[in-house]
Amino acid sequence: MMTIHVLDKKFVPYLSAETIAKRIEELAAKINEDYADKNPIFIGILNGSFMFASDLYKQISVSSTISFIKLVSYKGTTSTGTVITSIGLEEDLTGRNVILIEDIVDTGKTLSEFLPTIQKQQPNSIKICTLLQKPEALLHPLEADYVGFQIPNKFVVGFGLDYDGYGRNLKEIYQLE
Ligand code: IMP
Repeated sequence: MMTIHVLDKKFVPYLSAETIAKRIEELAAKINEDYADKNPIFIGILNGSFMFASDLYKQISVSSTISFIKLVSYKGTTSTGTVITSIGLEEDLTGRNVILIEDIVDTGKTLSEFLPTIQKQQPNSIKICTLLQKPEALLHPLEADYVGFQIPNKFVVGFGLDYDGYGRNLKEIYQLE
């Protein structure tokens, strides 16, 4: 692995494809153990999580389903400002055991604002599975249940994560130099 350029920025190797694959195997093993007979529904949050969700789901052996959503934020009419809503979710989550799949939890804003939307459907449980987490950047009360890697507060690309739309196709994860 070597230094790469994405648009105008230089990135250095951070997590190799092998390191990522190994960790995803461990996460899947833990989920398989925790969700035996719980028939979970995985919900991948697009775009960033598509590669992680795909690799993770291939290792899931318990009876389960998967669906994908896109989160859209728009200015609400309330004083709270933006409202986050999802598009593409057709499944009924009532009584289901939901596992949200994210690429990265940064400030935690996106997920903490979106969780009430899921909670309204009265699932039996909601857990968060994220490939990456930046603990130093966390500003909103949010606890991820399955975390691939805790990383420093530096911008990363690759394995689904983008810089201005580019870099998602990289097999490895790179860190801003
Ligand atoms: P949060 O709402 O601050 O937790 O931000 C979550 C979203 O911001 C993620 O789903 C990513 O799309 C994006 N994001 C945060 N940090 C990075 C990064 O280092 N690289 C690429 N995207 C990031």
